[in-house]
Amino acid sequence: MTVMVTGGAGFIGANFVIDWLAAGGEPVVNFDKLTYAGNLENLAALKGNPAHIFVQGDIGDYAEALKLFTTHRPRAVLNFAAESHVDRSIHSPGEFIQTNIVGTYHLLEAVRAYMATMSAAEKTAFRFLHVSTDEVYGSLSFDAPAFTENHTYEPNSPYSASKAASDHLVRAYHHTYGVPVLTTNCSNNYGPYQFPEKLIPLMIHNALNGKPLPIYGDGLNVRDWLYVGDHCTAIRAVLAGGALGETYNIGGWNEMSNIDVVHTLCDILDREAPRKDGASYRTQITFVPDRPGHDRRYAIDATKIDHALGWKPEETFETGIRRTVRWYLDNETWIGNVTSGAYRDWVAAQYR
Ligand code: NAD
Ligand code: DAU
Repeated sequence: MTVMVTGGAGFIGANFVIDWLAAGGEPVVNFDKLTYAGNLENLAALKGNPAHIFVQGDIGDYAEALKLFTTHRPRAVLNFAAESHVDRSIHSPGEFIQTNIVGTYHLLEAVRAYMATMSAAEKTAFRFLHVSTDEVYGSLSFDAPAFTENHTYEPNSPYSASKAASDHLVRAYHHTYGVPVLTTNCSNNYGPYQFPEKLIPLMIHNALNGKPLPIYGDGLNVRDWLYVGDHCTAIRAVLAGGALGETYNIGGWNEMSNIDVVHTLCDILDREAPRKDGASYRTQITFVPDRPGHDRRYAIDATKIDHALGWKPEETFETGIRRTVRWYLDNETWIGNVTSGAYRDWVAAQYR
């Protein structure tokens, strides 16, 4: 018995695979294209572990996906693979359309063909879990209630529009073809192995390298932060007990403005890795022009997953962010490699 994880060399996928195997889960077939965001170093802890089978490939490659399904016969497919960075989607939406929409379509088609080869018992047990985002719901005003699963889809960036389209495809494959799907819509994650293009690791990296800490607009945009390990336990709970065709919102009950997040990071770094000149890292904060179409506020109402599946986040922001800063301080080589491009050179040579 195996499960397949797509995008398992990225930030959340790698955390998921490591946690899954540590918790005694079945062997994982990890299917990842290794884009700039995918990094085998994230999976170094699993080196030599026969329960981790890594295959480099594209979810948009129907034939390869189907071959992997029929070879390994996974009892579940967890789809993390995506282009995930909003700013990149603004500069070049094409890859987002290709992977998040077209890629998900090909993966679903491969699942449909795989299901045709299943016994009745395999079909009953099988699950396709699609990992999505709260950004599909659009932007909230400061006093609006948090997003529930019934909120209308109002995506505003090419990234969120592509994720919304993938959610709709997943829903349609359940409704039309009976594919046993589950969808999760999660808020902003932070934690180990996050690529330093996203707010929290970017700020840590820039602070330690004496660079400006660029805050978009007025810094008052609000996000609902969740420690990545809590996202992983939520996904396991949905896979184990989620009702077919349902969606589950996942969030940290932890709304914070960007400027408050960055102040918190600066204060932790001032204690853990003080600047040589004795000044606070806060002096590196710089306000820069806003992201086009910048969503003002996201907030997740995670009542459904709590009541239906008994899931709640374990980390508070205070504990999670301290662990995260510590991880980045202790893993300078990792951050050096992902920011220097040396890692990509290594993969190109290794997989030539
Ligand atoms: P990431 O960018 O760190 O990793 C994405 C991974 O997918 C990489 O390993 C990459 O190589 C792989 N990939 C990209 N295109 C692929 C393709 N065509 N075929 C196979 N693999 C491909 O992303 P992340 O932050 O880990 O996000 C994972 C998933 O969770 C995404 O679907 C994202 O939309 C969703 N999500 C992210 C957050 C967050 O805060 N980061 C929050 C909610 C939901
Ligand atoms: O809400 C879930 C989403 O969270 C995920 O679906 C996305 O994959 C993930 O990237 C994240 O999207 P955001 O756009 O919210 O994350 P990001 O880290 O890029 O930005 C967080 C906030 O910080 C946002 O309001 C923009 C702001 N920001 C970001 C960067 C990179 C800055 O002010 N300065 C920056 O340099």
